[in-house]
Amino acid sequence: MCGIVGYIGPREATQFLLEGLHRLEYRGYDSAGIAVTSTDNIKVRKKVGRVSELAGLLDEQPVAGHTGIGHTRWATHGAPSDTNSHPHTGGNGEIVLVHNGVIENYSSLRKQLQGLGYVFTTDTDTEAVAHLVAHHLEEQLKLEDELTEELCLRAVKLTLLKLKGTYGLAVLFRDIPDLIIAARNGSPLVLGVGKGEYFIASDASPLIGYTDQVVYLSDHEIAVLTPGKLDLMHRDTGSMAPSIHTLAQVSADIDLGDYEHYMLKEIYEQPQTMENALRGRLDDDEATAKLGGLNLSPQELRRVDRIVLTACGTSWHAGLVGEYLIEEFARIPVEVEYASELRYRNPPMSDRTMIFAITQSGETADTLAAMRECKRKGLPTLAICNVVGSSIAREAHGGVYLHAGPEIGVASTKAFTSQVTVLSLLALFFGRMRHLSYGAGQRFIRNLQEMPEKIHRALECHEAVKAVAERYASMNNFLYLGRHYNFPVALEGALKLKEISYIHAEGYPAAEMKHGPIALVDQQTPSVFIVPRSGIYSKVLSNLEEVKARGGPVIAIACEGDEKVAQLADDVIYIPEVEEYLQPLVCAIPLQLLSYHIALLRGCNVDRPRNLAKSVTVE
Ligand code: AGP
Ligand code: GLU
Repeated sequence: MCGIVGYIGPREATQFLLEGLHRLEYRGYDSAGIAVTSTDNIKVRKKVGRVSELAGLLDEQPVAGHTGIGHTRWATHGAPSDTNSHPHTGGNGEIVLVHNGVIENYSSLRKQLQGLGYVFTTDTDTEAVAHLVAHHLEEQLKLEDELTEELCLRAVKLTLLKLKGTYGLAVLFRDIPDLIIAARNGSPLVLGVGKGEYFIASDASPLIGYTDQVVYLSDHEIAVLTPGKLDLMHRDTGSMAPSIHTLAQVSADIDLGDYEHYMLKEIYEQPQTMENALRGRLDDDEATAKLGGLNLSPQELRRVDRIVLTACGTSWHAGLVGEYLIEEFARIPVEVEYASELRYRNPPMSDRTMIFAITQSGETADTLAAMRECKRKGLPTLAICNVVGSSIAREAHGGVYLHAGPEIGVASTKAFTSQVTVLSLLALFFGRMRHLSYGAGQRFIRNLQEMPEKIHRALECHEAVKAVAERYASMNNFLYLGRHYNFPVALEGALKLKEISYIHAEGYPAAEMKHGPIALVDQQTPSVFIVPRSGIYSKVLSNLEEVKARGGPVIAIACEGDEKVAQLADDVIYIPEVEEYLQPLVCAIPLQLLSYHIALLRGCNVDRPRNLAKSVTVE
């Protein structure tokens, strides 16, 4: 978790650092800080709270300089506080660094360093790294009489060899003011290459408007940045030529525009993002999907007899929809595994098993680890990913991009619908390699083509959702119930509400209610029933009646014109009718809006919910 930035070049560093931290704030917002070098010292400014607090501090106590680093924190070790905020200082101020990740052996390092006389002032794991670099620097200085860039690099390398865990690091040196050394293992780092200047960031968003030339650091790579020079090396194999990519993002992608929150903006982007996910991928002639990035031959794809989808959170919910879709249309057995479980489990996997890691960010530590474990076993491992150039996208054998543009709101919305869209493309693709007829493939395509418009129509429920939110915002427990394709949507609706309004909510298969959770039903516990017309419509209605019979208020998500549901439920939100297997795409919309409005009414910070961060890059 957390966001790191760095700058070296002719500009005043502070402006880029602050702006970059603002853009990365979705990754962590417990505290923020920057450090800027001047001729004889490194000035550090840091503060608990949002980046805006840091900006206020910088107004009172400005810092000037052309080389600097910054950090926005999601605390793992030590409470959010001014002291525990990054950057952290090593030795007697010779070193200042920022860190993203977790140092697993920090307590033994801390003891060793304390034994050597280093004084710790914070509760973080990171401070051990700062003192360790200072210690190795001091050792190196005993061997040589002059402090050089090379010596600093050696000190960092020796430090890295002793670290267990994950890190993205950017290090400043007091006595060589125009030098930054950055290193990565497990936590993302991107370098921006400008004209005579370099940028560092945890993802590409801070670089937009500054440069579109980027270098993605891989694990165990180290970058030495001086004004006008970038040296890249691998910890073990030495110097290497940077591979420079051109960014496709533009600043409109990360601007709020007229919206009050990113979450709302992203909810409204869904007709467009769905179109993006489908663009160029529907082959009407062959009645199938075109997925060029799978990087497997038709023969290899035909051999697949089991698919494992692995992910976390919302992406895992999308995986559940994928399971239903792929099993229904391609008749291939699918399992959906929490990545955090899969990484340490040892399920039998034959060489005909194919793995998909589903992830918006492409940086989720558990998903990355699960994917690596499967790769290590020699399985074809692909990604369904949004962020281009992210760790998972780069390490996968192949995959499918969502093309949804940056998702900044911590609560995932547009990524979910794009993931489900891509999974439906996979169902079509594998289906057409097997049992699905030409006609059925064409009908599938036509239905998919209609979806952006249907989503557009689904968004028309906004005012109705707002009114429902007002009626129920004070309640403290919610149930979300759906069946078949809409069971994962119930889970997702409940997660959205929990995340941003801090209300306890549970998602359940509607029929499973009677096996326990129905005991929770009372007048203060509303149930959100997802009950669009389908083959099991009448069954879900029976479940709805069971809740009503016990005095529970019911909010129903139903198809336009459904009077029957209107008579039974206390409130109805209508969505357009679509094929049963595509219902998750439209049913998700009112649930996203409901959580958004309830959170607003309860005064919660929609885009930056407490305790969370966008990309969970720690285990
Ligand atoms: C979604 O609203 C959550 N913030 C979270 O569950 C998220 O989906 C999960 O952390 C996985 O993230 P990823 O898709 O970037 O891997
Ligand atoms: N482990 C470090 C800390 O708690 C870094 C956390 C982060 O990545 O934000 O300060």
